[in-house]
Amino acid sequence: QELQLNLEQIEKNGYDHFMLKEIHEQPDAIKDTYRGRLLLNDGIIKMAGIEDNIERLTSAQRIIIVACGTSWHAGLVAEYIFEDLIRIPVEVEYASEFRYRNPVITPNDVVIAISQSGETADTLAAIKLAKEKGAFVFGVCNVVGSSIARETHAGAYTHAGPEIGVASTKAFTTQITVLSLIALKLAQFKGMLSASQLREYIAEMEAIPAKVEECLKVDAHVKYISSMYKDSPNFLYLGRGYNFPVALEGALKLKEISYIHAEGYPAAEMKHGPIALIDEHMPVVVIATKRGHYEKVLSNIQEIKSRKAKIIAVVTKGDTEVREMADHVIEVPETLEGLTPLITTIPLQLLSYHIAVMRECNVDQPRNLAKSVTVE
Ligand code: G6P
Repeated sequence: QELQLNLEQIEKNGYDHFMLKEIHEQPDAIKDTYRGRLLLNDGIIKMAGIEDNIERLTSAQRIIIVACGTSWHAGLVAEYIFEDLIRIPVEVEYASEFRYRNPVITPNDVVIAISQSGETADTLAAIKLAKEKGAFVFGVCNVVGSSIARETHAGAYTHAGPEIGVASTKAFTTQITVLSLIALKLAQFKGMLSASQLREYIAEMEAIPAKVEECLKVDAHVKYISSMYKDSPNFLYLGRGYNFPVALEGALKLKEISYIHAEGYPAAEMKHGPIALIDEHMPVVVIATKRGHYEKVLSNIQEIKSRKAKIIAVVTKGDTEVREMADHVIEVPETLEGLTPLITTIPLQLLSYHIAVMRECNVDQPRNLAKSVTVE
């Protein structure tokens, strides 16, 4: 028993929880994900699983992404990246819905299955169905040799290292990293990016680990904000564009580990319902970074402000406009719009972590949840 405890302490590497360790591992995990795949000087992305199937992938009439939980959120981010960069229509499906709703799948479709564990039963079943219908199935998994990695025609690993905390953190950011690389590789092959655009993207991707490191420095400030709102029964998370899936993921993290009810919403959709919930007791987390729909988010913030909600805003460093309206701002470094989720996710992970710790919840093993759902 004692030996077991000591082993766990060693594995946590000085952190109180696996989740916190894994949050802090993200700069290195992202680096491990792109290592050997990004060649900055040559402006080249190397990915064997993509290169070997490049014709099949770039001739797809449609890309269908299937996943569950946090991996589904990474799929939503990928939808924005893929449609932006390669102009192939993308659909993102919950694997559990996809497999049971008689979906239209043709041999011209490419299905991308995203799964940290590579063992999620619904995702595995969705893959089998897609294969039966003749689609080409590509896996994005973390666990090497997992069932999904074996069941797919080709794939790319995230190389995030083991993720122990039930609430997914580094698996999410490395999934987004690998999906961005895939999009870039396909865009490169299709000639949809100029050499200089590609180089800019690659250089920015290489800058991400240092920027994530910078995000982690907001920890003390986020902890302070957490102490103010830890007893709130509800939270709302809002974002637009690339930050919409980040809002969903932020809300999911809070629900999972702190048991606070939280909803993620596209900021503009708020007026079609959730705005009715807003009063002076409701903390609203708004992601309001400079690139991408900034002005629109500002007006959404105004709407919330006039209903006296408590506004916690994630903003680009140096922002002044949001600061005037928000109760709290969390600054993050600027990046390309398409890579923003890798940055804006970090403070939201920390927020949920600190709130859960303050509420004395079991952060690494939340009630009723499993790391991998291998049965229906
Ligand atoms: C469970 C986990 C989540 C995870 C989801 C999908 O619900 O608790 O953290 O996102 O399964 O898992 P996968 O291994 O397929 O990514």
